[in-house]
Amino acid sequence: MPRSKYIVGNWKMHGSLPDNAARLAALCASVTEQDNVAVCVPFPYLAQTQHMLAQSHIRWGAQNVSEYLGGAYTGEVAVSMLHDFGCHCVIVGHSERRALYGESDGQVATKAKTAAGSGLQPIICVGETLEERESDKTAAVVTRQLSAVLDSLDKSEKARLVVAYEPVWAIGTGRAANPDDIRKMHVLLRDLLRRAECDNTPLLYGGSVKAGNAQAILHIDHVDGALVGSASLNPEEFLDIIKAVRP
Ligand code: 13P
Repeated sequence: MPRSKYIVGNWKMHGSLPDNAARLAALCASVTEQDNVAVCVPFPYLAQTQHMLAQSHIRWGAQNVSEYLGGAYTGEVAVSMLHDFGCHCVIVGHSERRALYGESDGQVATKAKTAAGSGLQPIICVGETLEERESDKTAAVVTRQLSAVLDSLDKSEKARLVVAYEPVWAIGTGRAANPDDIRKMHVLLRDLLRRAECDNTPLLYGGSVKAGNAQAILHIDHVDGALVGSASLNPEEFLDIIKAVRP
């Protein structure tokens, strides 16, 4: 059975109560039961998102989570808090978290384990920088990033895993990776997942996915969906991406 393609919006640090209300209402009106869609919103808007999406066919989640279950960790958010707001998923190890907030492979692995162990779906991001790509380190970097996570998860945690290949140089640049590169990287990641007995883990692509290139990207072998940044802020464009994977 082919996996249904999974389209996840990552709003990053964008939004306001009125903007979100308009965006979520537009999505609710058009996303159907057959679609496989989630939005990952900033923490303060989880309550609003839960309220607006509760009766819809759209799931929601956060963009980060603490590796700790609770305690004196000022500014952090625990998995139990995400469950309080009905979250289904959480992005873990986004390249912006790795680069700007120093998240290490070990920390990403612990967060993934904490999230999956609590019943959340961790969407693990892996991907190389331009410098790593230009020095032929792409395969080594993504292998290292993904292996750290796979080595930390038990069988039931692995069953909840989602992986997103997001080349750092393609994020927010309007320059998506070309289909051959996406195919090559997804073959490599699929092979790593198979060896870790994660045959059914959805493998997404992220990095400048737009309405105009979604059709081409989402039909590449081993691409099970997309993690969409700026285009997910525009409901018409996000819906066009969702429609690109409808049969
Ligand atoms: P853009 O779609 O804006 O390039 O962002 C991709 C991304 O970082 C999704 O997590």
